[in-house]
Amino acid sequence: MKFEVMTTTEIAARIADSLAAQLKEKPDSVLGMTTGSSPIKYGIFQEWIRREEAGELDFAEATFINPDELIGISPDHPESYRTFMQEQLFQHLRTKQKAAHIPDGSVADLDQECRRFDQVLRDLQFADWQLMGLGLNGHIAFIEPADAIPVTTYVADIYEQNRPYSSVHFRSPAEVPSRTITIGLEAVMKARAIVLVAAGANKADIVAEAFQGPVTTRIPASLLQLHPNVTIILDEGSASKL
Ligand code: GLP
Repeated sequence: MKFEVMTTTEIAARIADSLAAQLKEKPDSVLGMTTGSSPIKYGIFQEWIRREEAGELDFAEATFINPDELIGISPDHPESYRTFMQEQLFQHLRTKQKAAHIPDGSVADLDQECRRFDQVLRDLQFADWQLMGLGLNGHIAFIEPADAIPVTTYVADIYEQNRPYSSVHFRSPAEVPSRTITIGLEAVMKARAIVLVAAGANKADIVAEAFQGPVTTRIPASLLQLHPNVTIILDEGSASKL
């Protein structure tokens, strides 16, 4: 793994540089996306939008794919990851990308949806370039800590601490989804390049545990130690215990 430590204001440009290099080498790349707060907090998507506007990034041939989605809300729900991607990135791009795949957490047959998404992943031959965040409990995508991690796409219970809650869009805590559809380990390991961003002092412990401790399914991000091409983007706070 390659660690890069920078100021938070440098994160967006560093990631955009990596994306630009990827798209230059392979304009029809399959780009794995992430949700969470980091893409917004560090201006990651904004920088892509700005560079596309300036003609420095071209998404026309690219395919987007998101690794997870909340279960029990429709794709057009204000809190769905589909809506998040639409509002934060897709609707701001001038060129319409070829496709944007996100699991559908509203279907009745979740098992069938998992298999459908696996087929999408296989047809695309997995991500060429995968942006990732890091959950405080060591989750990646929505692969939560567990005794065993499924290989293919599956339904995961969200840890209580990770249940997103917005009083604006959910009327009561009970409405907040407690499960997600998430990619399994195969899609993580078969991504050709992974760029993981974890910034902020509150991530210092999990960064050290995940990337310098033993590999364990109890800290899913630790499995990335076995991946051949991972770049970990940190700031001074998150890197302070390495
Ligand atoms: C959510 C996403 C994860 C992401 C995590 C990190 O739980 N499902 O894929 O890694 O958020 O969140 P943040 O960037 O807010 O720290």
